[in-house]
Formats: sequence, C-alpha cells, structure tokens
Amino acid sequence: MKKKKLKKRIKVYGIIFFLLLLIVIGFNYSKLEIATDLNFNLNETVEKNDLVKKVKHGELLGKEESIDTSTLGEKNIPLQFKTIFGFKKTYKVTIQISDTEKPHISYNPIKNSKLNQEIDLTNGVSVSDNSNENIKVQVEGEYDIHKLGEYKLYYIAKDSSGNEAREEFTLNIVSDSSVSKNESYFTTSKGFQGVVRDGVTYIEDTLIVNKSYSLPSTFGNGLTNETLASFKELQAAALLDGLNIYIASGFRSYDRQVTLYDNYVKRDGKEKADTYSARPGYSEHQSGLTFDVNEVSDKFINTPEANWLSENCYKYGFILRYPNGKQDVTGFKYEAWHFRYVGKELAEKLYNNGDWLTIEEYFGIDSVYPD
Ligand code: DAL
Ligand code: ZN
Repeated sequence: MKKKKLKKRIKVYGIIFFLLLLIVIGFNYSKLEIATDLNFNLNETVEKNDLVKKVKHGELLGKEESIDTSTLGEKNIPLQFKTIFGFKKTYKVTIQISDTEKPHISYNPIKNSKLNQEIDLTNGVSVSDNSNENIKVQVEGEYDIHKLGEYKLYYIAKDSSGNEAREEFTLNIVSDSSVSKNESYFTTSKGFQGVVRDGVTYIEDTLIVNKSYSLPSTFGNGLTNETLASFKELQAAALLDGLNIYIASGFRSYDRQVTLYDNYVKRDGKEKADTYSARPGYSEHQSGLTFDVNEVSDKFINTPEANWLSENCYKYGFILRYPNGKQDVTGFKYEAWHFRYVGKELAEKLYNNGDWLTIEEYFGIDSVYPD
C-alpha cells in the first residue's frame, strides 16, 4: 500500500516537473531579441517592430503600433510577446529620443539688390525642422548696400537642441539695370561666363543642373520641343540599325523627385542614394532636357542599344551625361541610360571621339551639394 502511494507521488511529481520544464523551455525557446540601437530622432516614425532585432518562435503583439517620438528623453516601451506555447511575456524596452537633425533652410543662393536700397535678406527664406519649432533664420556676414559688389553671407538656423544649419548665399549689390533682369554673373575655373537668371544657371547658353547648381522648385513643365524632336530623329536612326530606343523616364517635376529621392533614401540610406538619385531641385530630369531610355538599371550597360547610343547620340545633340569612371566629377554613378540634350555643337565636343567628357570637366565647374 505504502509503495503504491509512493509510486503515485513520484508520478505526480514527475508530471509536475515535466510541465515546469516545458514552461521553462517554452519561455526560453521563444523570445524576443531587442535591437541594439534604441536611439531615435525626434518625430521619427517608429513602430514596435523597429525595437526588435529578432522574433524567436513566437509573435510580437501590436508590432505595427507606432511609438510616440514627439518628446525628447528616455521612454519605456512595453513589448508584448506571445510564445509558441501561448504564454505572454512583457519586455520593457527603454528607448532614447534625441534631436540630432539640423533644420532645413529654403533659400535662394543668389540674391540681387539695388545699390543704396534697404534689403531684408530673410524675406522669402523659410526654415523647417523635425522639432516643429518656429525657428527664425539669421544672417551672418558683412555687406554694404552702398557699394556695388558680391558678398558671401550665411543663413543660420538653430533648433532648441543646438543643431545648426548654415547655408552660404551670395548677395549682389548691383546697378538698377541688372536687378530688373534678375541676373548675376560668374566665371568658371576654365574661364567660361556663367549667368544665374531667375535662379537658373546657364553657361554659354547651356542650362546647368548638377549637385552645385539647382533649379527653382517651380521650374519645368515637360520635355522641351527641341529635346523631343531631336529624340525622334535619334530614335528613327536607331531603328534603321535595328534597335528600339524609347523613353522610360522623361521630365520629372520637383515634387516627383521628392517622392523618388525620399523612397531611395528610405531603402538605401542618404549616402548611397546620393550616388544615383538627385535631390529634389538638383535633378536634370526637371530641366526638360533629359530622359532615361529603355532599361533604367545596370543591366542596360553594354547592350547593343547602350553601345549604339554612346557612339551615336551626339549626332542628334545628346550626351551621355554620367559616363563610366566619372563619378567623382559628375557626382553620380555611371548611367548608361541617362541622356541630356545640349545641342549638336557641344555634344560633339563632349563626345570627344568616344572618350566622353562631362559638362563639369568641359566648363570647369563642380558638382557638390552645398551641405
Ligand atoms: N538619376 C539621376 C542622377 C537623377 O536622379 O536625376
Ligand atoms: Zn536619368
């Protein structure tokens, strides 16, 4: 009798032990691995999902719930996790919200003003920031409205976390006649004469867009007639050689470029995106003189169409805008599919007997973003 009881007890304890073992295993088998970087920027879009590196055998509950990042400092976020055995576990995760982003200043890099006329340099300048604060822009530098000349000045904007944006601009104190035309002049390192007219830069009548020379956000409304007509000639010539060339992406407005560029930055980060996608206002596609053909990817490189274009496009006034090996000069990776209309005369010079020169090399200009 006693033996039987003992056996029963051992059995019950055995089962309890086994169940406890299962629970312990269950808790450790299924778990969340918390992300190592828990620092976020003020007003950054963060979901619970973003706090987790790995979900091991279970489910993070409410993973798409967004986290309030509108206040600075430390924040404890509870993460509810369901193990595969159905147990619920709560992880307390501490995140840090800080503001490391500089304000963004929208401004015109060149301002013209008439001699002896008072000028408000902050007029038309706006500041936006992730903190949503109302930040006032300040002007730094010296100038004299009673002296004709070109003054290098700075717009400064600082948020309450001490992040400072500093943008250089040029104030031209000019005579009456040049102000009414809204023009300012400069000379390139190769001695070419440049003009900035209503915020658009031209060198010897060639419109310039690169990382140093932007377009106003309102500029452009489609491919120019000359670009389209010349493309049709090129297309017809290619067809005679048995090749089909078509426009895959032509004119792109400032707003369209905002969407494209933002998506690339989200996908690849800003540094990488900057090697292949222009920031809004800095894309040649906004000029109406540029298009991408056929396949917009590296797969297009060395296709019969790409080789034909590289050898023949200049005859129709087009240039291969971002040649291979010229990333340090143009600011962009090789794009075998991106063509720019410059007219036959300049196109032939840049074709350079098959050893493509860039606009930057030919005119002696930079292509670097201002910040
Ligand atoms: N892909 C070129 C550089 C652009 O975005 O305009
Ligand atoms: Zn392009």
